[in-house]
Amino acid sequence: MAFRSFQDFLEQIERASELQRVSEPVDTDLVIAEWANREMKSPGGGKALLFEKPIIDGKTSAFPVAINTMGSRKRIAMALGVNDVADLAQEIQLILKAKPPTDLREGFALLKQGIHLLHARPKSVREGVCQEVVHILDSNQPSNYAGPARTKYQTSLLDLPILKCWPKDGGRFITFPNVHTRDPESGARNVGMYRMQIFDERTTAMHWQVHKVGARHGKVYYQRGERMPVAVTLGGDPALTFAATAPLPDGLDEILFAGFLRKKSVELVKCKTIDVEVPADADFVLEGFVQPGEMRPEGPFGDHTGFYTAVEDYPVFHLTAITHRRDAIYPTTIVGPPPMEDFYMGDATVRIFLPVFKMNFPELVDMTLPPEGVFHNLVFVSIRKQYPYQAFKVMHGLWGMGQMMFSKYIVVADEDCDVHNTSEVLFRLCANTDPVRDSTIIRNPSDSLDHAPTEQNIGSHMGIDATRKLPGENYHRPWPELLKMDERVQRIVDSLRKN
Ligand SMILES: Cc1cc2nc3c(=O)[nH]c(=O)nc-3n(C[C@H](O)[C@H](O)[C@H](O)COP(=O)(O)O)c2cc1C
Repeated sequence: MAFRSFQDFLEQIERASELQRVSEPVDTDLVIAEWANREMKSPGGGKALLFEKPIIDGKTSAFPVAINTMGSRKRIAMALGVNDVADLAQEIQLILKAKPPTDLREGFALLKQGIHLLHARPKSVREGVCQEVVHILDSNQPSNYAGPARTKYQTSLLDLPILKCWPKDGGRFITFPNVHTRDPESGARNVGMYRMQIFDERTTAMHWQVHKVGARHGKVYYQRGERMPVAVTLGGDPALTFAATAPLPDGLDEILFAGFLRKKSVELVKCKTIDVEVPADADFVLEGFVQPGEMRPEGPFGDHTGFYTAVEDYPVFHLTAITHRRDAIYPTTIVGPPPMEDFYMGDATVRIFLPVFKMNFPELVDMTLPPEGVFHNLVFVSIRKQYPYQAFKVMHGLWGMGQMMFSKYIVVADEDCDVHNTSEVLFRLCANTDPVRDSTIIRNPSDSLDHAPTEQNIGSHMGIDATRKLPGENYHRPWPELLKMDERVQRIVDSLRKN
């Protein structure tokens, strides 16, 4: 189900008792972040928070702050208009089943085609509420403008209630942006979530990491020596914000995918100062460009790894206009030691795309990325094992799939292991493995944020086969049977305990 606006979504989660309003003034400098961190760490992800009077530099912002809006299983399902994200997995499965693909490439092509047919194609419109208020910046003004603040235009980046999240952060960061770019050669659109550090009222950093599609688009512009138009949207239907974080294959349009998720086309309106279309329902649109070759130190930033990411050079985003709804709400999140809001987003992604993984690995029963692994560090998989070394085949396959390449540890267990129960997986891992025989270490690209590898972006990954061993797997004794109580006895005790 599509939401009319971000506000509409917030009203729905409020009706479901999933949102807490905070009416007293709260500082955007660390205080909202600390409040949200405690909420995110409470059982099941706590509630979404709506700070009605966020304070920036001692003044109350004109825009409220919403945070932790997708930080629970219930809220992420509500954001995507379903009771459970498994319903979306089922729809994807139906598309894939229509004509069983023979390999992964064909599977994604088919998924794209199927999604396209389903009410998902975006629609261009002439007007959008995201442009109810328009502030076009003087494009001749230098980007290192140091003159009096806010004299040339009414709303600048400094008026948005952008958080400073952790004490040693290099400044304030936009943490929930949908960054819209185009491949200048193919025309393919991409929307990714890449944080943006505020440098001044009209410039920010653009933190697209080297493996991400925004960075790839940027490289093509740099090679052509052309200025890269970039639009950033905040708010609007949460389906697009979720889609921007999903590791879709390069070329599968997030706006199309958002249309599929919300079961309604996303309406797009032309930006005022750049040739980019953006969702008409967004709360804020930041229009601007990235100049080829221009880099600036970004960070430090308290990251989803649970550590500060060091200062590094990243491209610079120059603002040419801010447009927004009259009643805009600023959406944000914080990342840090797990679990945080992003865990629920990543978890939903894995559950929605499970059919795509299963299509490539028919033996795959279930898969999860537990919160302790902050996405890429830890993957638990269960398989129906038929032949020797099948667990290794699955690990290598996963390491070859898009952002799964970053998976630092993959543990494969048998089908009867509940991978969502970390203690059960650890039990299997400890009990069923001989480390030399059952592990493999490979070289692969690493997540740019991983501070452990000797060199950034490259490292080693470990796979552990915690399945029971079959003949041919260098195990020469009878495999013992796992203890399990008789079902008849279980039933007796069930009824005795009821009485
Ligand atoms: C809250 C949040 C913040 C993120 N920040 C960044 C970031 O700053 N840089 C980045 O490259 N990826 C970041 N990501 C991950 C990307 O959004 C994710 O890898 C996405 O799939 C990238 O899209 P792309 O494949 O179209 O580039 C973030 C994800 C979340 C949930």
